[in-house]
Amino acid sequence: MIIGIPKEIKNNESRVGMTPAGVFELTKYGHNVLIQSTAGDGSGFFDADYLHAGATIVNTIEEVYAASDMIVKVKEPIAREYGLIQKDQVVFTYFHFASSEPLTKAMIESKSVCIAYETVEDDEGTLPLLTPMSEVAGRMAIQQGAKYLEKPVKGRGVLLGGVPGVQPGKVLVLGAGVVGIQAAKMAAGLGAHVTIMDINMKRLRYVNDVMPPHVVTEFSNEYNIRKHIKTHDLIIGGVLLKGAKAPNLITREMLKEMRPGTVIVDVAVDQGGCVETTKPTTHEDPVYIIDDVVHYSVANMPGAVPYTSTVALTNVTLPYVVKLANQGWEKATVNDATLHKGLNIVKGEVVYKEIIEAFGWESAEV
Ligand SMILES: NC(=O)c1ccc[n+]([C@@H]2O[C@H](COP(=O)([O-])OP(=O)(O)OC[C@H]3O[C@@H](n4cnc5c(N)ncnc54)[C@H](O)[C@@H]3O)[C@@H](O)[C@H]2O)c1
Repeated sequence: MIIGIPKEIKNNESRVGMTPAGVFELTKYGHNVLIQSTAGDGSGFFDADYLHAGATIVNTIEEVYAASDMIVKVKEPIAREYGLIQKDQVVFTYFHFASSEPLTKAMIESKSVCIAYETVEDDEGTLPLLTPMSEVAGRMAIQQGAKYLEKPVKGRGVLLGGVPGVQPGKVLVLGAGVVGIQAAKMAAGLGAHVTIMDINMKRLRYVNDVMPPHVVTEFSNEYNIRKHIKTHDLIIGGVLLKGAKAPNLITREMLKEMRPGTVIVDVAVDQGGCVETTKPTTHEDPVYIIDDVVHYSVANMPGAVPYTSTVALTNVTLPYVVKLANQGWEKATVNDATLHKGLNIVKGEVVYKEIIEAFGWESAEV
């Protein structure tokens, strides 16, 4: 099979759909990998690395799409790419169809086979191709929060780890899912005092079992949140209600209870945020201040660390790419129920019912 890796052309996207390690693996099975020249530069993988791993380098995005049986990338195709996608071509990437009707219609018209990373789902309901990005964002949340606690950027002027003779900083983590646990782990590693809250007792029991004693769990309810926001320096928002807007656990009025210079990193911003005053920001302009509380709410946090994010993402996508290449998409999705959940649009027909519901359409074809 010919597998094509185009350069991402969405604004500010530096990740790439495959590393040289992936190329090496696929060529072992006799597949050909076409990679667009400089596609990996932003992640620190250069044409010479791909060539060495066995790829063929092509100069233009048009050549990649025209020659490939399967396209592997990171972000959803943008308008400039719609016309490049071929009939019967497999496209394996993040799509987030429910948030874009034009993209959905374009992919229906292309008659391609769209397999979406974000809906690949195992039998426990976890999303293995989303998890690594939550891991990156959870860990980054502490790095960013620690920086914005510094006085010159209007933070409280607290060093999270403290020093001998001075108490460490206090971190409140809302949600003990993937983001929350990774954040708690990083904060604990710096020596901060950590409180982590969830409504799911299983998660709290797990955290209690695996974390050091300076990470304490507490059940999430308004009373407890109100109590802790008065004393914690850094607050991390990592809650998720599947398929719904995040609940507003911190209201605007509650900001007045916090000390000036408290920092909120609301990772859940992509689902609306768990703080009433959250609005999406960018890496160019990541923070704003309301009532002396510093808000950091970048919607694509992993984008700032493309090397780590590319490797973390391709570690989990590659086994599926290999299956799709070796077996063809039809057999691979029958043989693997987790991958089957990734099928969204197949040759002009929407097969993932949530997309039809999202747009209020009556049938699977438009
Ligand atoms: N900003 C970014 O760049 C970025 C990157 C990755 C993920 N995210 C987002 O981060 C959020 C968290 O993702 P995740 O993978 O950790 O999800 P997850 O499902 O693993 O964890 C969410 C946790 O929130 C808990 N929760 C639900 N309601 C709660 C409440 N009222 N109080 C406390 N906890 C509550 C759930 O029980 C669950 O344990 C999602 O919205 C995700 O899209 C953002």
